[in-house]
Amino acid sequence: MYRTHNNGELRISDIDKHVKLCGWVQKSRHLGGMTFIDLRDRFGITQLAFNENINSQLWEEARKINREWVIEIEGTVKERSSKNSKINTGDIEIEVNKLNVLNKSKTPPFTIEDESDGGEELRMKYRFLDLRRDPLQKNLVLRSRLGMEIRNYLQKNKFLEIETPYLIKSTPEGARDFVVPSRMNPSEFYALPQSPQTFKQLLMVSGYDRYFQIVKCFRDEDLRSDRQPEFTQIDCEMAFVNQQDVINTFEGLIKYLFEKEKNIYFKEDFPKITYEEAIKRFGSDKPDMRFGMEFHYIKDLTLGYDFKVFDEAKTVIAICAKGASTFSRKKIDELTNWVKIPQIGAKGLIYVKCNEDGTFKSSVDKFFDQKCLSKWANNCQAEKGDLLLVLSGNKSSTQKQMNELRLRLGKDLGLYKEGDYQPVWVIDFPLFEKDEESGKFHAMHHPFTSPKKEDVTLLSSAPEKVRANAYDLAINGVELGGGSIRIHDRNLQEKVFTCLGFSENEASSQFGFLLNAFDYGAPPHGGIAFGFDRLCALMSNQDNIRDFIAFPKNNAGRDTMIDAPSELDEEQKKELGINVVGKI
Ligand code: AMO
Repeated sequence: MYRTHNNGELRISDIDKHVKLCGWVQKSRHLGGMTFIDLRDRFGITQLAFNENINSQLWEEARKINREWVIEIEGTVKERSSKNSKINTGDIEIEVNKLNVLNKSKTPPFTIEDESDGGEELRMKYRFLDLRRDPLQKNLVLRSRLGMEIRNYLQKNKFLEIETPYLIKSTPEGARDFVVPSRMNPSEFYALPQSPQTFKQLLMVSGYDRYFQIVKCFRDEDLRSDRQPEFTQIDCEMAFVNQQDVINTFEGLIKYLFEKEKNIYFKEDFPKITYEEAIKRFGSDKPDMRFGMEFHYIKDLTLGYDFKVFDEAKTVIAICAKGASTFSRKKIDELTNWVKIPQIGAKGLIYVKCNEDGTFKSSVDKFFDQKCLSKWANNCQAEKGDLLLVLSGNKSSTQKQMNELRLRLGKDLGLYKEGDYQPVWVIDFPLFEKDEESGKFHAMHHPFTSPKKEDVTLLSSAPEKVRANAYDLAINGVELGGGSIRIHDRNLQEKVFTCLGFSENEASSQFGFLLNAFDYGAPPHGGIAFGFDRLCALMSNQDNIRDFIAFPKNNAGRDTMIDAPSELDEEQKKELGINVVGKI
C-alpha cells in the first residue's frame, strides 16, 4: 500500500497516528536544523517535517529533494507550532521517519503554482505540468461534478444516454467539417460530426424518446475564447413535445445545476425575448441582461442640422451611460479609438455629456444646439451626470458595434457583480439569413428547424420573413445552448431544402436517409444542445473555455504538446491514396 491517506485529509483529530503519504514536492524550506516539504496531490497539501536532531541522515536526504519529485513517506501526525489556516491540513504536520524517492523530476519550465510564471504557449506545450496547478484542477473537478449532476437530472427525467457515430457524412451546422480519409474506400472521406443532429432525430423516429449524450463535436471555424475546434455538447432530443415542453425541461436542468453547484435558486421562469426585440434593444441575439443601457434610435431627432454623418446614416443609435459624464477626455478618446478597431469597425463615436448644471457638452456642439441635445437626452431618459454615446451607419452593423460598446461600458462601469446570473430565452429566430455576397439563404440554426406554423405560407413568397420554432438560452451574454422543434414531415423538409437552394438530387444525395425516415412514421420532435465547456466556464465566472478542457487546442487549432496536426508519412499517404499537393 502506497498510502494510508491523501494529502488533503489529515486533521488535528489524527494526531499521533502513523501514516503513509505520497505525492509531488510542491516546495521545500530549510530553517536551521529543520527542513519542511509541502507534499501535494490533487486532494491538497500536507507539510512534512524533517528534524536534524531526530534523524540527521533522513534530514540530509530531505535536503536533496527538489520540486516535483515524487516521494513516499511514513511518519507520525503532529500538531504544528505555527498553523496555516489557508489549507485544510494546516493544523498538522508529519514527523517523517521513512522517505523513499519514487521518481525524480527535472526542474519544471515554469512554477507549478496558482499564479504561474509560465507564458500561455509554454504552459500549453507542457500541459501535463500545467494541469498540476490548483486552478486547473479545480476547473476539471467542477467539470466532472457537473457531468455527474447532468446525468442525474436527465436520468431522473427518463432520458436515455445513447452514443452516435463520429465517422459520418457531413452535418450542416454552419461551420466547415473536419474530414477523415477511408483506407477501405479510397478517395472517399468521412466527416466528423459538427453535432449529432440528424442521428438524434433518427433516434426519435426509432422510438427512443428522450435521448441525451455528453458528446464531442467538431467544427473547423475561427477560434475565440469561447470556441474550440473540438468541444463538448450536452445534446438532447425529445419526441411529442412543443417548444414550451423543451424549454421547461431544460430550464429545469439549468436551475438544478445552479442549485447544486452554486446554491443559486432561480424562483421565476427565465424571461423570454424575441430575436427581433433582442436585436432592437441590445444589438445582440445573446443579450447580457445583467444591466440595462438599452438602445435608443434617435435618427428623427438629428434631422435638419446639416450634420452629414447622421443625415447619410440609415440609423443613429444612442446609449446612456449612467453617471459617466465624469469620463475624462482621455477615456472618451480611448473609447473612440477602440470602436474604430477593425474587429468593431465603427467610423467614429459621438458623445454628449449631461452636465450637473443642466447644460450639455458634446463632440458635435458645432451642429446641434442645446435644445436639440436636450431632446436627445430626454429620449434616452438621461439625467444630469449621465453620458450619451452615439453611433451611426447602416442598421445592422451599427447595432453590432453598439452591442460591443454597451458590453464594454457595462464592464468598465461595474454595472454587474461577479456571481450575478441573468438567463434569457431568445425565441422566434428567423428561419433563414441571407448571405450578403451570394444573395443565397442559409439556415440560421440548421436546415431541420421547423418554421412557425403561421409562417409556413411565407416560405414561397417571402422566405426572409419566416420565423423559426427555435430558441437559444443566453446567460450573461454567453450563448449557452440552442435548439428547435424539428420538421418531421417530408414535404415541408423538401420545401425548406428548396429555399436553401438544394436541387432535388442534392437534397436526396445529402439527406436522403432523413427524408426516407420521415416516410416511416416520424413523431413530432424537438431538442436542444448546450455547450458543456461554456457552462463550466460560466459557472466559474471565466471567459476562456480552454481552461476547462484537459487538452485543448491553441488559437491556431494546434495541440503543441503532441504537435498536431502534422504531416502523414509517405507509407500512410500511399495506403490512403492521398496525394498532397503542397501548402496552399
Ligand atoms: P449549436 O450550433 O447552437 O446547435 O450548438 C449548441 C451549443 O454548443 C456550443 N458551441 C460551442 N462551444 C464551444 N466551441 C464551439 N466551437 C462551439 N460551437 C457551439 C454553444 C451552442 O449554443 N444541433 C444543434 C442543437 C439542436 O438544434 O438541438 C447545435 O449544434 O454553447
